[in-house]
Amino acid sequence: MHNHKQTLGEFIIEKQKEFKYSSGELSKLINAIRLAGKVVNHEVKKAGLVDIFGSSGETNIQGEDQQKLDIFAHNKFIQALSNREIVCGIASEEEDDFIVINSNDKNHQNKYIVLIDPLDGSSNIDVNVSVGTIFSIYRRKSPVGSPVVLEDFLQPGRNQVAAGYIIYGTSTMMVYTTGHGVNGFTLNPAIGTYYLSHPNMKFPEDGHIYSINEGNYIHFPQGVKDYIKYCQAEFEDRPYTSRYIGSLVADFHRNMIKGGIYIYPEYSKAKTGKLRLLYECNPMAFLAEQADGKASDGRKPILDIQPESLHQRVPFFCGSKNMVDKAEEFMR
Ligand code: AHG
Ligand code: MN
Ligand code: MN
Repeated sequence: MHNHKQTLGEFIIEKQKEFKYSSGELSKLINAIRLAGKVVNHEVKKAGLVDIFGSSGETNIQGEDQQKLDIFAHNKFIQALSNREIVCGIASEEEDDFIVINSNDKNHQNKYIVLIDPLDGSSNIDVNVSVGTIFSIYRRKSPVGSPVVLEDFLQPGRNQVAAGYIIYGTSTMMVYTTGHGVNGFTLNPAIGTYYLSHPNMKFPEDGHIYSINEGNYIHFPQGVKDYIKYCQAEFEDRPYTSRYIGSLVADFHRNMIKGGIYIYPEYSKAKTGKLRLLYECNPMAFLAEQADGKASDGRKPILDIQPESLHQRVPFFCGSKNMVDKAEEFMR
């Protein structure tokens, strides 16, 4: 029986043809992320064994410098991305300012910028729950050969060239889009290879799961309170199921497979929401739209927002199309 499963490496090479201006650079970039993701995966999976997630600056039992796992992940991705002649700038949730690459070399041709949340859901590591890495890729706006500027990073999500996440879960998966649908690859840890396990992923149009930190209910805007009551009402296919992990990556991943909505609204303690537009909401919104889902700030599409600062936060409503439509209806 023929049952060859395509590897991520093979898939990347095959898909390179789909790009108009393909020079293979984006493929190399995705490859760099794939590799850094394996290193971080290895570290995440032994977190419980070596107590590596202690506070920064302390020493672990091997006598090495102990790092918080999100700093470890940040460093690994920065390393992997700046070693290639592709990326001209990186911004990370873990660093206040963006990083300029190759600023001394006037001949460099690097045209891509990358934004990352190196470890999403990091508070879940101590309790052995799924975490992830989120990435977002753009073409620079400023001229090639010059140092990148803030405006290169403050592009609306609509301009993304690629985006995705790695989920360090019961299995490790890499899920990404280059604007031609969403594909998911599962890591075979024995041989370190990702295989195409979830081709052409789609959000079911309707879903039955709502994911929100309901502990903050009292502080939510009235529209969100009303939508939660709608989810809980007994009528037709309701009440819906409530599922909230507290790792955006894991909540999004489950909802994309099963059908559902993720909400992190603005509320009295976080006036513009909690999630970051550039590192979390934009890449997830690109994936959602590519998977026939929807992402909004409660009023308008996330991908149409003109960012104003690197660490800007926005309210986030994301998931199955009909559910997000309904939530927006309540927000009006
Ligand atoms: P990070 O670990 O990168 O700071 O992100 C955590 C985010 C997101 O992953 C998650 O959905 C949300 O924070 C959970 O927030 P609450 O604990 O306020 O519900
Ligand atoms: Mn995060
Ligand atoms: Mn993070």
